Amino acid sequence: MKYRRVGKSGLKISELSLGTWLTFGGTMEDEVAEQCINTAIENGINFIDSAEIYARGGAEKVIGEWLAEETVDRNKIVISSKVFWPTSDNVNDWGLNRKNIMSAIEGTLERLGTDHIDIYFMHRFDYTTPLRETVEVVDDLIRSGMTHYWGTSAWTAAQLERVHAIAREIGAHPPIVEQPMYNMFFRHIELEIMRVATDLGMGFTVFSPLAQGLLTGKYNEGIPEGSRGSRFESLKKRLTPETLAKLKKLAEIAESLDITMSQLGLAWILRRPEISAALIGASRPEHIIENVKASDVKLNNNVLEEIEGVLKNKPAWPETYEPNIYYEDRIRY
Ligand SMILES: NC(=O)c1ccc[n+]([C@@H]2O[C@H](COP(=O)([O-])OP(=O)(O)OC[C@H]3O[C@@H](n4cnc5c(N)ncnc54)[C@H](OP(=O)(O)O)[C@@H]3O)[C@@H](O)[C@H]2O)c1
Repeated sequence: MKYRRVGKSGLKISELSLGTWLTFGGTMEDEVAEQCINTAIENGINFIDSAEIYARGGAEKVIGEWLAEETVDRNKIVISSKVFWPTSDNVNDWGLNRKNIMSAIEGTLERLGTDHIDIYFMHRFDYTTPLRETVEVVDDLIRSGMTHYWGTSAWTAAQLERVHAIAREIGAHPPIVEQPMYNMFFRHIELEIMRVATDLGMGFTVFSPLAQGLLTGKYNEGIPEGSRGSRFESLKKRLTPETLAKLKKLAEIAESLDITMSQLGLAWILRRPEISAALIGASRPEHIIENVKASDVKLNNNVLEEIEGVLKNKPAWPETYEPNIYYEDRIRY
């Protein structure tokens, strides 16, 4: 495993790190989730990403149970959580206002059974709270030791520039990391966000690096029973003939390199020095064992060109991922 600095901060995380969305406290038995964390740690992963909203606190609880084990050294693990999404019907129980952030982090720390997290992500931009209010409250959290660093998730380039300007103006800690979706099919950050965030000293911990499983090749011959694609219509819909044709060509490239499609997809992400880590999801320990090997794969320029020839896609906002429309219909103003 190789480790990368998170932007210009001194924090170092494994370039492949473990995500807990849908799986922890959700589709996976707790026992298997624990096996996944142990496998991740044994393979050099030091960063576990979570959120208040994952399984409505369930993911954090599973991590907390693991952290409570005697053999676990909390100080060796980097843990993140996130705040934004509504957790009840209460009018203040969502977003990036002071009240919600203060109560959300208390719940997070309680479920994790720790007195601090390492990175606190603002899970989306909040158009109803002054950005300065958010910067001030997160700065308070850092100064009180409840979180060591903070980050943003799915923010636009302009929002990242604004938040850094405010932090500079008031002498507050700026976010050190952005967490966007990024994979061979979703490359919108290459347009502008990657350059802007890097100039601001931010790193990237990217989510859905394998397009939720599409890029593992598991759907190349149909939808396996029990897979994420068998559960979620939105993923099924993405299995168009065009996408399948691309997946099959990517499988050929992977085979010619004697690696798996997952390893190809992850090594393709890690080709960019702006990336601090790809957050891999896993529904069984074997996924982690296979995926961490991507850390040993370096794709040369010929292979990268071959991949571009297959993808034939330009970085653009995916229809389903325009941040402004991404959640507005779900939030009550
Ligand atoms: N900030 C945000 O808004 C946001 C949003 C989404 C995710 N995230 C974070 O990013 C993490 C990763 O996202 P993701 O789960 O979508 O990532 P992903 O790595 O693209 O997809 C993970 C899923 O693909 C399948 N898979 C992975 N490796 C495999 C392998 N080697 N062989 C076969 N199947 C394999 C598994 O699904 P099945 O076995 O169930 O089919 C697994 O759960 C999340 O856990 C979360 O921490 C953040």
